[in-house]
Amino acid sequence: MRCIERLRRIFYDRTGITFDHKRHFFAIKILGFMQAKGIDTCDELIERIDSGSLLDELTQELVVSQSYFFREEQDFAFLLHDIRSRPTFGLKILSIPCASGEEPYTLAMFLLKSGIANFSILGVDINRAAIAKAQRGVYDRRTVKRVPQEYRDTFFEPCSEGYAIKGVVKDCVDFRTKNLFAKDFEELGRFDYIFCRNLFIYLDANFKERALQTFWRMLDCEGVLITSFSDYFAKAPGFDTIVYQNKHYYKKRCDEKGCMYTQWWNG
Ligand SMILES: C[S@@+](CC[C@H](N)C(=O)[O-])C[C@H]1O[C@@H](n2cnc3c(N)ncnc32)[C@H](O)[C@@H]1O
Repeated sequence: MRCIERLRRIFYDRTGITFDHKRHFFAIKILGFMQAKGIDTCDELIERIDSGSLLDELTQELVVSQSYFFREEQDFAFLLHDIRSRPTFGLKILSIPCASGEEPYTLAMFLLKSGIANFSILGVDINRAAIAKAQRGVYDRRTVKRVPQEYRDTFFEPCSEGYAIKGVVKDCVDFRTKNLFAKDFEELGRFDYIFCRNLFIYLDANFKERALQTFWRMLDCEGVLITSFSDYFAKAPGFDTIVYQNKHYYKKRCDEKGCMYTQWWNG
């Protein structure tokens, strides 16, 4: 197999992201990356990916960490509706992938503004640079422009680079660099809500199913998976589909004792 194809396979096996229809783009990015790193051969690149952290940096080159505040807003209305429909204390929310923090910070601001205080959010992304930016919580003026004024006034403070997220919001959010398909991913814990938006589009059927199973195991009983509009799952075993304002959400199904089925349903 040509080396570039081997690399494509390695990248797919680790991240679930296929470049089947973007082979040319993949090859150009790889060549640029090798040049920037002073790597002469594709074999050497594979060796360095296997032995160290280069996969991380390569992912930053290949996958766009683009996000924005208040993206797909109808999900926040659903979240509030669902939170208010059941007794919950100490809500735990996972935002994966969280890119540079816009999604988890939006969630935190939205919940605080809605009078919900007892919650924690974990933002996770494979892109280390994006996570570093999220942890800093500083955004340029153009990025913050789409934040509604009332939120901007309450939760941001102007700084030389634009706006900084205030401590009251930062205190609600933690960040981790992690690959969703890493063996130890589930050690991040259990959650009431998992936001996974604008990632499934990059994955093939096999990895979509792996991700669904992982989220199912990481959700607490009756926890909800929130995905993008385009990620409709006709078959989501172990979940009940809820339709709210024309959008589908996936609630973890529990047995009559109020607990989860112990096994992933294979049917
Ligand atoms: C388009 S952004 C989506 C961010 C946010 N959820 C949103 O909807 O705005 C896609 C992100 O997926 C991340 N990503 C891709 N594969 C991943 C993986 N296997 N594990 C964790 N993050 C991944 C990328 O680094 C990128 O930041």
